[in-house]
Amino acid sequence: MTDGNSETKSSNQMWGGRFASGPDAIMEEINASIGFDKKLYAQDIRGSIAHATMLAHQGIISTEDKDKIVHGLNTILSEIESGAFEFSRRLEDIHMNIEARLATLIGPAAGRLHTARSRNDQVALDFRLWVKEELQRTEKALTALIAAFLDRAEEHADTVMPGFTHLQTAQPVTFGHHCMAYVEMFGRDRSRVRHAIEHMDESPIGAAALAGTGFPIDRHMTAKALGFAGPTRNSIDTVSDRDFALEFLSMASITATHLSRLAEEIVIWSTPQFGFIRLSDAFSTGSSIMPQKKNPDAAELVRAKTGRINGSLVALLTVMKGLPLAYSKDMQEDKEQVFDAAESLELAIAAMTGMVRDVTIRTDRMKAAAGSGYSTATDLADWLVREAGLPFRDAHHVTGRAVALAEQKSCDLADLSLADLQSIHADITDKVFDVLTVEASVASRTSFGGTAPNEVRKQIAWWRARN
Ligand code: ARG
Repeated sequence: MTDGNSETKSSNQMWGGRFASGPDAIMEEINASIGFDKKLYAQDIRGSIAHATMLAHQGIISTEDKDKIVHGLNTILSEIESGAFEFSRRLEDIHMNIEARLATLIGPAAGRLHTARSRNDQVALDFRLWVKEELQRTEKALTALIAAFLDRAEEHADTVMPGFTHLQTAQPVTFGHHCMAYVEMFGRDRSRVRHAIEHMDESPIGAAALAGTGFPIDRHMTAKALGFAGPTRNSIDTVSDRDFALEFLSMASITATHLSRLAEEIVIWSTPQFGFIRLSDAFSTGSSIMPQKKNPDAAELVRAKTGRINGSLVALLTVMKGLPLAYSKDMQEDKEQVFDAAESLELAIAAMTGMVRDVTIRTDRMKAAAGSGYSTATDLADWLVREAGLPFRDAHHVTGRAVALAEQKSCDLADLSLADLQSIHADITDKVFDVLTVEASVASRTSFGGTAPNEVRKQIAWWRARN
């Protein structure tokens, strides 16, 4: 015990300065999870109410005791929500904190609640319920982000910009098409969320410590009461599995990775050098020394949160790796990773949704950049294939020479004269100028999933029908 005369129990001289006494205080500190698992209070109480109700229904406890238990648990719920509840580290975790308070409130009947269950299935239940609810929140948040992108894509289906590979100007695309690339990514993230919910939609309660129980419980009843599709099928797996948490973290890492690529583009595009976008005041900050600056801090922080979320995934994978079945206390380390990643992800998605909705698109700058860097060179090569019957490889070579000539004359491809072009290949006619503008280039990319405005509009409609 840590109270009483701390002077008589000496703590470790090397590192025990903050401890009142020897190993038992350290034990308490390393063992306790109440500091973070109090977040599971609502799920714990819901699970206990379902369990007690089932126990009474099955005749395992009396209806009177069940009523006392349910009443007591509801009292505790309001105590916690009003801030009146006193959490104790001595009582280790949320499960024992609530049970101890229940005993104070209702007396011996409280001791019957833990019949036919263990903290092992209890924590598996509470945490699953929490993760499932978090996934439902993530699904909504992603839907809002997708909706923001669909609106911007529709607005800018005709806005031309340079498309990049290696961050070098490649071919003209539309900003609407670029937005829709993110819709595809976040759409897949959202389906990963939906799959994760389906995977974890099984109730752990009733697996007890690991072997099940001899009491005539009804696991289908508790599963139904708690909104699960059914009970888990193997009690050993139930108390030792945390892949629902790993699935949450994998989904979070992939989503965050997508968000960070978007964040990076926002950072680059908002520089004066690019100038493709202007961030709203609401999502940028100023510099304390340089008055002209407007910094994309929100985007930078989203980019950074990704490191943190990826770290959580790796941390929990490492905790779980090599653990023998069934429960081990190592698994208590699952929660902080998930809580931290969930908070970061929620914030990152919300910040991005706000930025996407608020950002000003500088269509003039995008258009000017779209035409530079010989972005329509592929269109010239394609024209030579189509109209002059050249094999693509030869057309590629001829076009390369045209680019070199334009470079030499410091002009764009479209500014070369017909005579210039014909000096490179005699079959070129003035019809070629029709394909050298960025608008013509973009409009010609009509293959399924291509950048032509009408194609992009089809994809927007496809997504709108699925939102
Ligand atoms: N706080 C514990 C955890 O989060 C609850 C389960 C404890 N089970 C046990 N057998 N000690 O994992």
